[in-house]
Amino acid sequence: MPVLDFIKSKKVIGLDIGSFALKLVELKPKKKGKETVYELVSLGYEPVPYQSIVEGSIMDSTAVVDAIQHIFYESKTKTNKLSFGVSGSSVIVKRIEVQRLSPSEMHEHILWEARPHIPFTPEEVNIDYEIIESDDVHPERVGVILAAVKKEKLNDYLNVIAIADKASHIIDLESFAILNSVLANYEMYQQRCIAIINIGASISNVIIARSGHPVFVRDIAFGGNQFTDLIQKELNLKYEKAESVKKGRQVEGVSPAAVKPAINLVFNELKNEISKTFEFHRSNTTEGRIDNILISGGTANLESIVDFFSQEFDIPVEVVNPFNNIDINPKKFDLEFIKDMAPVFNVAMGLAIRAVGDFK
Ligand SMILES: Nc1ncnc2c1ncn2[C@@H]1O[C@H](COP(=O)(O)OP(=O)(O)OP(=O)(O)O)[C@@H](O)[C@H]1O
Ligand SMILES: [Mg+2]
Repeated sequence: MPVLDFIKSKKVIGLDIGSFALKLVELKPKKKGKETVYELVSLGYEPVPYQSIVEGSIMDSTAVVDAIQHIFYESKTKTNKLSFGVSGSSVIVKRIEVQRLSPSEMHEHILWEARPHIPFTPEEVNIDYEIIESDDVHPERVGVILAAVKKEKLNDYLNVIAIADKASHIIDLESFAILNSVLANYEMYQQRCIAIINIGASISNVIIARSGHPVFVRDIAFGGNQFTDLIQKELNLKYEKAESVKKGRQVEGVSPAAVKPAINLVFNELKNEISKTFEFHRSNTTEGRIDNILISGGTANLESIVDFFSQEFDIPVEVVNPFNNIDINPKKFDLEFIKDMAPVFNVAMGLAIRAVGDFK
């Protein structure tokens, strides 16, 4: 569901503008019989200076412009157009139900019904929606996922992209990009009820999808930063050292055992937030069972996160590999880097797939 859909073109970069790092993916679609397969054309990763972006708001435009220019340069792409995602407090996502009307009447009807659910005037936001066909809803009604993005926040992103001399093509919800990436990479999850949890630095996106359709979406203002902050505080360390300790690296004077309690404490908080979302989903749908949990984002690399979630939720947990179904030329790309960093590229991959293809 692109929130805004500009001119269609085949050459578009997926750019994940994260608060910890930018991620760039460019794909080329190829037809193999009836199926579309994607080949990796460019890949990029560029750390963003600390606090240049805070919970989805751009605080230091110059730093973000520099990072955009640098990632494009380093990835050696010849493409100038990009697709990016929005998430966090600048986006309001709600699921509503409306009466089923004829297709020609639906658009106006949904926008009208959406008004009381969006706490802003139509002038303040861009609204988009996706109709969800679901057995939970009476046949005379349809489920609709509404997405409203504050124009003010959107303009901040459009500005830095324009100053970096790039063109914006599609603006998507990060959550839908994440779902697209998983569905394109894992055929088996197209039939099941899955929960994808993308845990970044400051935001975790939770998407519950059944048979390939999103049924519930929520962004939680919680992520890897909370782990680093607590380690910093508990062990009296500087930010960089706390980051290293969190990633399991040896830091002089810090024993791994000392870090465990802080990590476990934050794990529990994160679990409680996710549980609330699962509970809400269970109480609002007739078929509340979740078959699989898929995790991605940088924090999915935390040691023991898979074991922790599997035990707590008693549901099989897997780390997403967004390159699972992607053709990669080993002569052109560093396969070791891709293997280590794979879950970090889930959002960028979903944006790139949507940008080049007709997957959804
Ligand atoms: N090996 C690792 N172990 C633990 N945490 C890690 C590891 N690698 C990265 N991280 C953490 O992942 C987070 C960054 O993930 P990601 O790149 O998905 O975030 P982002 O998209 O930039 O941020 P956001 O979307 O929240 O603004 C950071 O908190 C970082 O410390
Ligand atoms: Mg992110």
